[in-house]
Amino acid sequence: MKTLTLKRKTSSSDVKTNKKSGARARVASQYQLHKEKRQKTVTSSETSFTEDKTSVNKTENVQDNSLRSLSHKTRPYQENRKPTRGKRVVSHRAPKKIAIKVQSAPADFNYTKDHIFSLFASCPQGLEAPLFDELTELGFQDVKSGRSGCHFKGDWKDVMRANLWSRVATRILLEVSHAPIFSEDDLYELTLSTPWEYWFGPEHELRVDTSAIASPMKSLQFCNLKVKDGVCDRLRKKEGSRPNINTVRPDARVHAFLEQSSATLYIDTSGVSLFKRGWRFDKGIAPLRENLAAGLLSLAQWNPSIPLIDPFCGSGTILIEAAWKSLNMAPGMYRPFAFERLRQFNRQAWIDMKNKVFDEKKDILQAPILGYDFSPQAIRNARANLKRCKLPINSIEFKPQNALALERPKTAPGMIITNPPYGDRMSVNDQSFWSDWASQLKKEFADWQVFMITEDHDLPKHMRLKPKRRHPVYNGNLDCRLFHFEMVADSYRDK
Ligand SMILES: C[S@@+](CC[C@H](N)C(=O)[O-])C[C@H]1O[C@@H](n2cnc3c(N)ncnc32)[C@H](O)[C@@H]1O
Repeated sequence: MKTLTLKRKTSSSDVKTNKKSGARARVASQYQLHKEKRQKTVTSSETSFTEDKTSVNKTENVQDNSLRSLSHKTRPYQENRKPTRGKRVVSHRAPKKIAIKVQSAPADFNYTKDHIFSLFASCPQGLEAPLFDELTELGFQDVKSGRSGCHFKGDWKDVMRANLWSRVATRILLEVSHAPIFSEDDLYELTLSTPWEYWFGPEHELRVDTSAIASPMKSLQFCNLKVKDGVCDRLRKKEGSRPNINTVRPDARVHAFLEQSSATLYIDTSGVSLFKRGWRFDKGIAPLRENLAAGLLSLAQWNPSIPLIDPFCGSGTILIEAAWKSLNMAPGMYRPFAFERLRQFNRQAWIDMKNKVFDEKKDILQAPILGYDFSPQAIRNARANLKRCKLPINSIEFKPQNALALERPKTAPGMIITNPPYGDRMSVNDQSFWSDWASQLKKEFADWQVFMITEDHDLPKHMRLKPKRRHPVYNGNLDCRLFHFEMVADSYRDK
């Protein structure tokens, strides 16, 4: 999936004054041509939009001026271009009207009115099943697994609850409109028809992101500009002025998602990605993202009654996530969210929700959680992170220790869940490291379940162990596997 963020420098004033070359120049000239064309058509398209402020879900028929301009003659970036054989081209026989479903809140919106929104929780690819389980367990309605996330339904209070409680989601997006689109102008129309003013206004600073799967649109950057224009024109018309763009610390984030023949517009209610819990400053080498760590615990079917070890713990991410879950601490407790800046934010409801977390929090772990790393600096980082995330300092035992000499703890058999070193940065290119580690596991950890996430798909071969399962999962852009080895006393079968 491609994602693109609107950059401040492509604002209309810059487009007029700065000389550009290459791709930037093409986008700038497209933008200029469309802007001029829009000056002529915007009045008619805006007046054709009628709005019922009290309606909750409505379908609008918007006069599709733009579809008539689908011909490649009038699409600036396609000028004089013949459709290329084998490439998808937009049908010229598109319907004259497009149905725009605008999902909005009533003007006197209040979460107690139980308005139900369509929501999308995004997550790293491979964690859809843990996210599905988590959202279902949290009691959300109509949870459906999708690509890199789950759709679900909920009211405004649920939006806050999902942000506060989801350990696996990357962000929570609230759908505000959806329609079939066949051109960039349709996208503009859809954006212009969306009641952004319920959520934010000119007093907010805006960021727009656009991502796409199988969309025939030629330039995501151009689509991003069309969405930005639609939002700004709408607010200028409704409230007299437009919001400024701020890509670094925006107050309001709009996300456009384009598919083959439709677009969905979302308000991003999370802001900074949810895996940033606000406690990890000491990262060490190659840290895992917190929501990936939470997803691994779920894929391994770990629960708080199972003793847990990470022998290559680094900054302690997997174990700190486990301890938070064990103590029933909400992962979003100590960080801000984008929804707090939106017009519908109800501060008292949010304070009440967070206070409830403390009432339901547990004080002690049910089973030991132990972390080891041969780097004393990594252990110092892990301890500092533990302190910062306000968990009791003795809740997790972090100790410097070489994994190759790790002994079985005096607990019932449990789980090893770990992200072992990989690649040059970790200086473990020596294959004997893996056979030594496998021997140590066989010797000390009979009856334990071992889960290892790695980019190295040949890890089982290096360890000469046959995995019970291999689960594909992405760590950022890295196509990784979570291998599950079942250590069986004496009878472990070598590959
Ligand atoms: C990929 S990092 C783990 C990152 C961790 N999951 C996090 O989120 O911070 C691998 C860690 O293994 C440690 N390591 C490498 N060889 C080791 C060994 N023989 N024994 C113990 N730790 C080792 C490194 O110091 C490093 O912190």
